[in-house]
Amino acid sequence: MKIAVMPGDGVGKEVIPEGLKVLKAAARKFGFTYSTTDYPFGGEYYLEKKITLPDSALKELAAHDAILFGAVGVDPRGSAQIPQGILEAEILLKMRFELDQYINLRPTRLLPGVPTPLKNAKPQDIDMVIVRENTEGLYCQNGGFLYKNTPHEVANQIEVTTRRGVERAIRYAFEYAKQFNRKKVTLVAKTNVLRFAHNLWQRAFDAVQAEYPGIATDYHHVDACTMYMVTKPQIYDVIVTTNMFGDIITDLGAAIQGGMGMAASGNLNPTRQAASMFEPVHGSAPDIAGKGFANPIATFLSVAMLLDFLNQPEAAKSINRACQSVVADPKNHTRDLGGTASTAQVGDAVVAAMA
Ligand code: NAD
Ligand code: IPM
Ligand code: MN
Repeated sequence: MKIAVMPGDGVGKEVIPEGLKVLKAAARKFGFTYSTTDYPFGGEYYLEKKITLPDSALKELAAHDAILFGAVGVDPRGSAQIPQGILEAEILLKMRFELDQYINLRPTRLLPGVPTPLKNAKPQDIDMVIVRENTEGLYCQNGGFLYKNTPHEVANQIEVTTRRGVERAIRYAFEYAKQFNRKKVTLVAKTNVLRFAHNLWQRAFDAVQAEYPGIATDYHHVDACTMYMVTKPQIYDVIVTTNMFGDIITDLGAAIQGGMGMAASGNLNPTRQAASMFEPVHGSAPDIAGKGFANPIATFLSVAMLLDFLNQPEAAKSINRACQSVVADPKNHTRDLGGTASTAQVGDAVVAAMA
């Protein structure tokens, strides 16, 4: 297995080394071998060299079996030397788009023993998988300004929606449900207002669902979805949604599963023609970076997804089980979960649990 490793910025630099520790423990236990290639891209690299992610590196990345990614980005209030969103667009989104990672798979599960802000929710109530379309929508950087910095300035940001792009995401959601014995796929969109783009989503969904008679379906507008995720999250099983809505509802999902430190993701190119990328859902968390108490569980669960994708299901299960048993004990909780454990202590605990 050839794995590219890009820790990026902020807490990415703290959680990825722990993720590599867990990967190493899995390899030892299950007898597979792998090599890693380190990539330095991110904020500091940009400040030094004015380079985000060169095409040559992208080409190398594509040829790996998988990419383990931390996070990029600076404080949302901005950095004078780094143009707004340039790291996100030219590193993270560039990989997703150019490597055609058209599925962003974001399992949202509350593990036993992890505190959730939903006062009545039990682990069995929060167990959904969000399939986020990952190469279209409002993320295409299709748009621009007219008359910039004048009183009649115009800004366009176009939501790109193709039948092919939408259909492959929807089909993936149904195939996922079929494979993992999930009972229901819910389309989350905004058909009442986005009457062109989301009408296409609705029609594609209707056409694909007809091929899966055993799987129940539902539709929610995204605004209602955010309410139901809080008031009755147990109604969700598999959700399929647009790029932007998927971004938003998976942060909400992270919140109800115990926080950003618990939410894992895989940016999948199911054709395997280019590398898939695995990363925690969270960002660089500038507010806590450098302190050594970022929660690394999301990264470990992402490493498990990586191994599952690379046909090491036993190793993946072992990491998932170890994470479950570790977070069940409050002494292994980092500050976000109300504890005092450090990032490295949680890593050690997961490695020990795997052994
Ligand atoms: P964020 O996810 O970085 O942080 C949101 C909140 O969650 C913060 O309070 C943070 O402390 C907390 N948090 C995040 N990860 C945590 C962890 N592992 N353990 C404990 N707490 C954690 O989102 P933000 O503050 O909106 O964004 C910061 C920067 O990261 C921005 O530049 C943004 O664009 C970027 N970003 C990058 C990615 C990515 O690379 N995948 C994802 C999201 C945001
Ligand atoms: C995520 C992040 C990214 C997104 C940003 C950093 C481009 O928020 O992975 O959820 O919006 O997809
Ligand atoms: Mn996000």
